[in-house]
Parts: sequence; C-alpha cells; structure tokens
Amino acid sequence: MHPLHFLAAVLPAVVHGAWVVKDSRSDVPSGWEHLPDEQVSSTHGIRFRFGLAQPGFAALEALLAQTSDPFHPSYGQHLSKQEVLDLSTPPNDTLAAVESWLAANDARSVKWSTAKDSVSAVLDVARAEEMLATRFGVYQHQNSGKRALRTLAYSLPEHIADHIKFVHPTTAFMDPTSRRRRSLVRRDTGPVPFNQSDFASCVNITDPPCVRQIFNIGNYTPQAVHKGGNRIGVAGYLDIWARPDSFKQYISDYIPESIGSNYTFDIVNITGPFNATIDDEGNIDTQLAIQVAYPIPMTFFTDQSIPPYIPDENQDGEQPGRNEPYLEFIDTIMAMDDPPTVITTSYGDDEQTVPRDYADAVCQGFAKLGARGISVLFSTGDSGLGSFDIEDCIANTGDNATTFLPDFPATCPYVTTVGMVDGVSVATMSASIGSGAGFSNYYSRPAYQNAVVSAYLSGPANARETAQQKSMYNASGRAYPDLVSIGGAPFFDYYYSVWDIGGGTSVSVPTASSIIALLNDWRIKHGKPTMGFLNPFLYGVGSAGMVDMTAGWVEGCEQPGFNATTGWDPATGLGLFDFGKLQKLALV
Ligand SMILES: *[C@@H]1O[C@H](CO)[C@@H](O)[C@H](O)[C@H]1NC(C)=O
Ligand SMILES: *[C@@H]1O[C@H](CO)[C@@H](O)[C@H](O)[C@H]1NC(C)=O
Ligand SMILES: *[C@@H]1O[C@H](CO)[C@@H](O)[C@H](O)[C@H]1NC(C)=O
Ligand SMILES: *[C@@H]1O[C@H](CO)[C@@H](O)[C@H](O)[C@H]1NC(C)=O
Ligand SMILES: *[C@@H]1O[C@H](CO)[C@@H](O)[C@H](O)[C@H]1NC(C)=O
Ligand SMILES: *[C@@H]1O[C@H](CO)[C@@H](O)[C@H](O)[C@H]1NC(C)=O
Ligand SMILES: *[C@@H]1O[C@H](CO)[C@@H](O)[C@H](O)[C@H]1NC(C)=O
Ligand SMILES: *[C@@H]1O[C@H](CO)[C@@H](O)[C@H](O)[C@H]1NC(C)=O
Ligand SMILES: *[C@@H]1O[C@H](CO)[C@@H](O)[C@H](O)[C@H]1NC(C)=O
Repeated sequence: MHPLHFLAAVLPAVVHGAWVVKDSRSDVPSGWEHLPDEQVSSTHGIRFRFGLAQPGFAALEALLAQTSDPFHPSYGQHLSKQEVLDLSTPPNDTLAAVESWLAANDARSVKWSTAKDSVSAVLDVARAEEMLATRFGVYQHQNSGKRALRTLAYSLPEHIADHIKFVHPTTAFMDPTSRRRRSLVRRDTGPVPFNQSDFASCVNITDPPCVRQIFNIGNYTPQAVHKGGNRIGVAGYLDIWARPDSFKQYISDYIPESIGSNYTFDIVNITGPFNATIDDEGNIDTQLAIQVAYPIPMTFFTDQSIPPYIPDENQDGEQPGRNEPYLEFIDTIMAMDDPPTVITTSYGDDEQTVPRDYADAVCQGFAKLGARGISVLFSTGDSGLGSFDIEDCIANTGDNATTFLPDFPATCPYVTTVGMVDGVSVATMSASIGSGAGFSNYYSRPAYQNAVVSAYLSGPANARETAQQKSMYNASGRAYPDLVSIGGAPFFDYYYSVWDIGGGTSVSVPTASSIIALLNDWRIKHGKPTMGFLNPFLYGVGSAGMVDMTAGWVEGCEQPGFNATTGWDPATGLGLFDFGKLQKLALV
C-alpha cells in the first residue's frame, strides 16, 4: 500500500526564506480543470527534466548570426558537433551543484543530456513537492479527458535557483492532442476518384509533377547524393508511426527510378520501440518530404510523447520522453555525428501553454541545430489566428483577455515556419484562411524581419484594422509565417495500400522541406556547405527567389484577420519558393 495524501489546495505551499519562485500561473489554464478530489500517491514516481543555465548560449547565438548571414565571411561555416556541445555545457559549478542536490534528494535513474545542458531524473511526488515547495494535483484536459500531474507554481532553494532554468513537467499545460494539426483527411478503398488528366494538369489534386511545376523545379534531380552530407529528417511525435510499405508504394508510383531499388527511410526510435498503431501523419510526412528529393536519404524519428497520467501506478515516471517531445528530439539530433540537414515537423502547441523557461530551452535547442547547419522547419497549424471560435481565444494570464493564440515552436525566431495557400496554380493561389499565423508574446521581432513586418503593420493592407483586433496580438513579437507552401489543395498519399487525400500545413511543411533538401544538394554539388538556419537568407538575398502571394487573408477568433499584400504579410509570409531562382541566389 502506498501512503496517500489528499490534495486540498490548488495553491502551492507558502514559500518564504531563501526560495525563488521559478514560475507561477494565476489560474488553471483554459481547457483544463483541476480535480481536487483525486488522490495522488506520495510515492508515485515522476520523471522530471531540469534545464540548466547555459551562459555559453550568447556566444553560440553570436556565431549563428554570422554563419547564417550570406554577406558575412563566415557564412555557411557551420559549427561542429563538439563546438556546439562545448558552448552548451554549463559551467562546472552548475553541474556540481545540480548533481549534489539531486543525489541528496534520492533522485533515481538520472540521465544527462549529451551536452549536460539538462538532466532528467525520477523523483517521488512527496520528495519533489519538498524540493520545489509546491503541491502537485491532478488536472484534466477537457477535450481529450487526459489527466496530468501538474502544479500552478514552483520554487527552488536560492542556492540552486541560478543554476536551474526550469523544471518540467510542473506548470506545463500543453494540450496533449492538438500538436497534430491536419485537415481534409479522406480515405477510401475504392479506385482513386481522379482522372489521370487531373493529375497531369494539376487541376484537382497535387502530386510530385505538380509540385515541380508550382515551385519551378523543372527536371532537377539530386546530383550530390554520392558526396554524402545531406539528409532529410522527419519528426514524428505523439506515438506517430510511418509505414515503410506505404512509402514504397508512393515512391513506386511517382518515382520510377526507385522501382527495384531498396530505398526507404531509416528509423530512429527516440523513446521506442513501442506499440505503434497511429500512422497517418507519419505516412503523409515521409511521403511528401521525398516528393522531389529522391534519392536523398531520409530518417524518420519516432517519439512516444503522449503524456498519460495513470493514478496510483508507479510506472508513469520511469519512462523517459513522455511530456517533452521537443527536448528529447533536440538532444537526439545533437548527439548525431551526421544529423539531418533539414528537419520537417508538423506539430505545435499554443505558445501560452508552454512555460516560458521551457520554451526558451527548446528555442535555444533549435538555434543549436541551426548552428550545426540544419534547417529546422515547422508548420504553423491549421487554426488560423488561434481558433475559429472566439470563446477559445482566451489569455492564460489571469484576466481572461480575448486574444489570438500564437503557436509554438512556430514563434521561435530560430525556426522557419511554413503556412499554406489554397489553389494549385501559382497565378490563382491565395492565402488559406485557416493557415496558422500570428505574433509571439514570448519572442521579440528578430532583426531579419524587422523592416518587412513594420512595413506591413503600417501599410495599406492593415490600414483598416479594428481596435479590437489590434488589442488581440503583440505587434512587437516575432511574426510568422516566414513562407507558405501548398496545403489548401488536396495532396495524394498512401495509407496502408489505399489512397488518402491530405491537406493542411501538415503537408505544406514536408513539401517545403523537400525543396530545401534539393537546395542543399545543389550547394553540396558546388562544394558548399548546407543552407543551415534559413531565415536571414530568406528575408535577405533569398527574398528575390520567393513568389509573393498577394491575394486572400487569414482569420480566426471571429476577427477580420490579416490580409495578404505585396511583400511580407502574416497571411502568406514571404510567399512560395521559386527553386530556379533560389538555386542562383543560394550560390552567392
Ligand atoms: C570542469 O570539469 C572538467 C571535468 O572534471 C575539467 O576537465 C575541466 O577542466 C573543468 N573546467 C574548469 C573551468 O574548471
Ligand atoms: C479524363 O479527362 C480527359 C480530359 O478531360 C477526358 O478526355 C477523359 O475522357 C477523362 N477520362 C475519364 C475516365 O473520365
Ligand atoms: C476536377 O476539377 C474540375 C474543374 O474544376 C471539376 O469539374 C471536376 O469535377 C473535378 N473532378 C473531381 C473528381 O473533383
Ligand atoms: C541497398 O543497396 C545498396 C547497394 O545496392 C547496399 O549498399 C545497401 O546496404 C542496401 N541497403 C539496405 C538497407 O539493404
Ligand atoms: C523501433 O520501433 C519499432 C516499433 O516498435 C520496431 O519495430 C523497431 O524494431 C524499432 N527499431 C529499433 C532500431 O529499435
Ligand atoms: C498493441 O496494440 C494492439 C492494437 O491496438 C493491441 O491489440 C495490443 O494488445 C497492443 N500490444 C501491447 C503489447 O500493448
Ligand atoms: C477567468 O475564467 C475562469 C474560468 O471561467 C474563472 O474561474 C476566473 O474567475 C476568470 N477570471 C477573471 C479575472 O475573470
Ligand atoms: C509582447 O512581446 C514582448 C516581446 O516582443 C514581450 O516582452 C511582452 O511581454 C509581450 N507582451 C505581452 C502582453 O505578452
Ligand atoms: C483587408 O482587406 C479587406 C478588403 O479590402 C478590407 O475590407 C479590410 O478592412 C482589410 N483589413 C484590414 C485589417 O485593413
């Protein structure tokens, strides 16, 4: 029998003396409820991750600013694995302090990240409550019914507080089901209901030949695969799996050269192997990421990251990976000698549900991947400016203010975020109203987009903005998307051996990533390093290689939304890749 204690209070224990409050929320976030009558076993083990202070990050950020600036002499001189690890490793006194604090508290199954920039360990609930001066309670996510052990505030003893940036999961109320965003899913066992000439003319549906037309790729096929150093990474979170047999069927249909080859994607099980049963997102992501990039190698990363909470069972906390897909993923890549050179991810959370310090560590992690020469692409989500229903557009800041809901990691200035447009012909394409867009409340507007974003906000397309809309976003924040790809028009893929029609930003981001893989191939062919962190290039010299989208708008929260216009706008970013033009610009 485990001793049980009854959690009557939502609020943390009173903190005084030499303690520092690390995070606190004034209310249970919208979409969640506290279940005060649920009992928690005091010996229930939780696996926590402790994020450590990294004073070297400022130096890494400064180097990244140089290596990603096409006009800097160090452009493309990406850092080595060891250089990135060295700049990420905390000072010895931080490591020693954290190590002894964990040991003194009987932390079990302690696992350090590759750079020692974070450490995870299992602690009993009762011990964790003492260490963090808090009380954990059971919270339920209203839509999914999933439960999680969380708290609204936690503190650290003063002697350790400067060494530890965050403890996770504590105040994180990420929605356990909404990271996967897609729409337009249809599936059938009958014959494909499209006339072959629809494919040929790209009228009703998009497939690889249409992608070649739309993005001005022509007949370009990879020419530097034999040189190595180029690989597509596909992130699969939330137990999502991808089927090699469906992948094989897709490439056999579209890539005749692949027939008879043994080409397939590699698999890295971050926290598996597991009982994978859900695979639609993984299938569409792997298939669309190879569209124009065959035979560049590809790796699918699986991660069992659905956070189940099972009351009175001790096994929950013993398994790594749950509750924290991003940092486990980043650490896996950081440890690789030959990491992917472009990574596509079709998942996200509302920014406000991700605790600030945890988001910082994740965003810094993506900067580290950029410094190694990896382009990190994220989808913006399919819920427009947050949600279509204004009742969902509520700030978690205690005042219940009506607000747009920006999406994280889309708001991280070190990722390239990809929205979607409707239509399959460049001349008639327009913004897709549900394409995710917005402005960060966490990250200020980065220098690379400063000019174009301020031009938009004060320009004619936004001139008739209502006072209410203006009050619903933070105009000084990092604005997204950076670009768009096709996603509003149906895409063809295979699910098991039957056809499937997918859409949304889940398809726009692997498609865009396939094109970045080609640009990397082109640069490698010319003896140059991979593109790496893309944004300074795209907003600078690369903007001449983008097809500006000027029609349509994005909306959400029952507001007028943002209009597309000439130049960057929150509806379509910088526009669509023109591969032919980017090829020339990428060799400067
Ligand atoms: C930190 O510790 C490592 C390993 O013990 C040691 O090699 C290194 O010299 C130490 N660095 C400093 C600055 O003391
Ligand atoms: C497919 O479309 C073409 C061109 O519009 C037409 O000639 C042909 O009859 C169609 N085939 C079928 C099976 O509908
Ligand atoms: C394809 O598009 C054409 C023209 O928009 C339309 O008439 C036709 O019904 C569409 N076919 C299918 C199968 O959706
Ligand atoms: C695929 O074939 C190549 C040579 O044709 C071989 O080197 C490679 O090991 C094969 N890969 C797998 C996964 O069987
Ligand atoms: C990864 O997990 C899958 C699903 O459980 C399993 O089939 C496969 O063997 C695992 N691969 C590795 C390399 O562990
Ligand atoms: C794996 O999933 C299948 C289908 O949902 C289920 O029948 C089976 O019991 C599961 N196996 C394990 C070991 O969880
Ligand atoms: C915000 O909404 C929550 C949930 O409806 C409610 O409990 C709380 O009192 C509200 N706070 C304010 C300041 O209106
Ligand atoms: C607005 O964004 C800035 C960063 O750009 C941030 O410092 C500020 O706190 C944000 N304001 C709100 C109300 O979130
Ligand atoms: C966007 O354009 C439409 C049509 O021209 C206009 O009615 C609307 O007011 C514009 N929105 C803003 C914010 O200016």
